[in-house]
Amino acid sequence: MKNSLWHEHVLPFTLLLGLLAATTLAGDYLLHRFNLVWVGRYMGIPGTVLIVGSLYYSLRKRKYVASGDPKSLLKMHEFSAWLGSLMVLIHAGVHFNAILPWLATIAMGVNVISGMVGKMLLKRSRQHVQGEREKFQLRGLSKTEVEQSVFWDSVALGAMTQWRKVHIPIFIVFAVLALGHIFSIFLFWGWV
Ligand code: HEM
Repeated sequence: MKNSLWHEHVLPFTLLLGLLAATTLAGDYLLHRFNLVWVGRYMGIPGTVLIVGSLYYSLRKRKYVASGDPKSLLKMHEFSAWLGSLMVLIHAGVHFNAILPWLATIAMGVNVISGMVGKMLLKRSRQHVQGEREKFQLRGLSKTEVEQSVFWDSVALGAMTQWRKVHIPIFIVFAVLALGHIFSIFLFWGWV
């Protein structure tokens, strides 16, 4: 069990996601505790800026822009999308008045998770399962026995491949919903 996919890859992933949830709750608690709920209201703006900024990587990857080292940009993409989502989550807080921004938040959550699965887990997990398969083959196990031994890891891997397909379509859903929310707020504030 020590060498399992869960232990080596899924657990760190779960911790990073748990950190997002815990920091959101702590941030929300502190803002309420110190009567700074209004700060959370404006935190949607830097959060959105960070998420939009993280898209520079996507432009670079598809060669719409030429400058920047793709590897560092990928790190920047992951970090700023994560931090931006944290700010937006704190911004969303525990207020339930409108449906549209909550749908946007759910889409954002799926987006962050699928991104984390795709970028953090998929490649290493594939290598892990392949490595395990080879190890069992070297031990002289039959093909069926090998497949049986890596069964649960393969199931986990299969689910992860699906997640990756979700990343871009759900981003588009997220962007449309978030724009709807931002536009209506700006209209309400008289900024447009
Ligand atoms: C420029 C960026 C943004 C601005 C200026 C902004 C502004 C606001 C404001 C003023 C409210 C309070 C509305 C109320 O009290 O009824 C609000 C609520 C909320 N926003 Fe944003 N927001 C931004 C971005 C986002 C994004 C990107 C998301 C989600 C992906 C989001 C999700 C939410 C949620 C879930 C709420 C709570 C809605 C409720 O009370 O039911 N916001 N936003």
